[in-house]
Amino acid sequence: MANTILVGAQWGDEGKGKIIDVLTEQADVVVRTQGGNNAGHTVHIKGRKYILHLVPSGILRPKKTCVIGNGVVVDPVSLVEEIEGLRKLGVRIKDNLFLSETAHLVLPYHRELDEQREILKGKHKIGTTKRGIGPAYGDKAARTGLRVLDLINPERFKKQLELKIRENNEILKAFGARPLSFKQVHDSYRAAGNYLKDFVANTVILLHQAVRRGDDILFEGAQGTFLDIDHGTYPFVTSSNTTAGGACTGSGIPPHRMDRVVGVMKAYTTRVGEGPLPTENAEIADMLHAMGREFGATTGRPRRCGWFDAVATRYACMVNGIDELAVTNIDGLDSVETIKLCIGYRDGSRRCDYVPNDTETLSRCRPVYAEFPGWRTPTHDARKWKDLPAKTRSYLKALAELTGASLSIASVGPGREQTIAL
Ligand code: GDP
Ligand code: IMO
Ligand code: MG
Repeated sequence: MANTILVGAQWGDEGKGKIIDVLTEQADVVVRTQGGNNAGHTVHIKGRKYILHLVPSGILRPKKTCVIGNGVVVDPVSLVEEIEGLRKLGVRIKDNLFLSETAHLVLPYHRELDEQREILKGKHKIGTTKRGIGPAYGDKAARTGLRVLDLINPERFKKQLELKIRENNEILKAFGARPLSFKQVHDSYRAAGNYLKDFVANTVILLHQAVRRGDDILFEGAQGTFLDIDHGTYPFVTSSNTTAGGACTGSGIPPHRMDRVVGVMKAYTTRVGEGPLPTENAEIADMLHAMGREFGATTGRPRRCGWFDAVATRYACMVNGIDELAVTNIDGLDSVETIKLCIGYRDGSRRCDYVPNDTETLSRCRPVYAEFPGWRTPTHDARKWKDLPAKTRSYLKALAELTGASLSIASVGPGREQTIAL
C-alpha cells in the first residue's frame, strides 16, 4: 500500500475513522500526527460502534502498530479513559500502542481557558470542542508547554506544574473563573502518567525503523482542510495543521518518504462549530437529522449540513496534493429528488473559483450550483461500482472530476463491508 497520508478534505467528520479502518487492513503502522481529543472518529464493526479520540483508528485491527505522534496534543487523563473504554469493549491495547515522548500535554487550565475565552467572545465564539486544544498548542508555540517526557518524570513534572498552575490561576481569576487545585491536578495527572509510561517511546526513531523495514505506514489525519490553522477559515479553525504537511511535522517522517495522499469527503458537506459554510442548507440538514445522522461524535452537537462544495474540495486537493478520493455517506443522498453540487461562488457580481482567504468575503459568497437527478434507490447494499445506480455513478464521476483527483473508494454505509473499492 506504501506510505499514505489520509486527510479530511472538508470541515472534519468526513468519515476518516471508517476509511482508516478499511485501509489499515493493508497497513503495518497507523499514526495520528496532529490534533487532540477534539477528534471523534467513528468505526462500526459487526454492529458495534467505536469512537476514537486520541488512539489511532487502526487499533481495532489486531497485529497493527499504532502511534500517537509528536504533533498530537494529549490529555493524559482522557487518554487513560479512552484506553480503558476500548479494553472494556475487548480491544487489545498493550505493546501495539506507542505514545510520543515529545507530544505536548493538555492540562485542565487549557480546558478552562478554552471555555472562558469562548464565553468572552460571546456571539463571535469559534464553537470549539472545549477540550483545551487552542490553549495547549498556544503554550507549545510560546515554548511554555509541558510534554509527555515531563509527565513521566515525577520531580520535574511537580516543579513545572506548580509554576503553570500558579500562572494560569491568575489568568482564570481575571476571567472570574475558579482557580484550580494544584494537588488535585497533580495527583490525577501523575496517576495517568504512571498508567501511560509503558506506552511512551521515541516515536520518531520507531517510525524510521518501520520505514527502513519497508513497513506500510498510514497517517491518520484529524479534523479537515478548512479547519487547518494556516489554510482554513481562520479564526474558525482548530490549532494544528490538518493538511498533509502536518503528517510530516507531526511524525518526523520527511515528505519524500510519503507515497500518496487520500482525501476523504462526504457526498455532501457538514460542519460543526461556527464559521462560514457557503453551501449550508436547512432542508438537507433537517433531512439528515431526522434520519438520526450528523450529530457530533465528540460533543453530540448537531452538525450543520449543506450540498457538496467542489470549490472547497478542489482547493483541498491542491493544498494537500490529494491523489485519490474516498467519498463517504453516499447513502445519505438516497432519497433526494434533485441533488445540487456547488461549482463556483458568486460574491455580488464577481465570480470566484477558489475559496477566498478573507472569512468575511467567504461569508458573502453565494454558491453557483449544477443540478443532478437523484437516484432515489437505497445504495447501502452496493459492494461493487456496477451495483450503484447509473445516476449515483454520474454524480460521483462529476464530483471527482470537479475536485480534480481520481475516485478510489465509495462508501455506502458506516460498516467496514459497505465499501466499494474502485
Ligand atoms: P471522522 O471524524 O472523519 O472520522 O468522521 P466521524 O466519525 O466524526 O463522522 C462520520 C460519521 O459518518 C460516522 O458516524 C460514521 O460512522 C459515518 N459514516 C462514515 N461513512 C459512512 C457512509 O458511507 N454511510 C453512512 N451512513 N455513514 C457513514
Ligand atoms: P474530526 O477529527 C469536526 C472544530 C470545532 C470548532 C473548531 C475549533 O472528528 O474530524 P477546537 O476544539 O479544535 O479548538 O475547535 O474545530 N473541530 C472539529 N469539527 N471534526 C473534528 O474532528 C473537529 N475538531 C475540531 O467544532 O469549530
Ligand atoms: Mg469526527
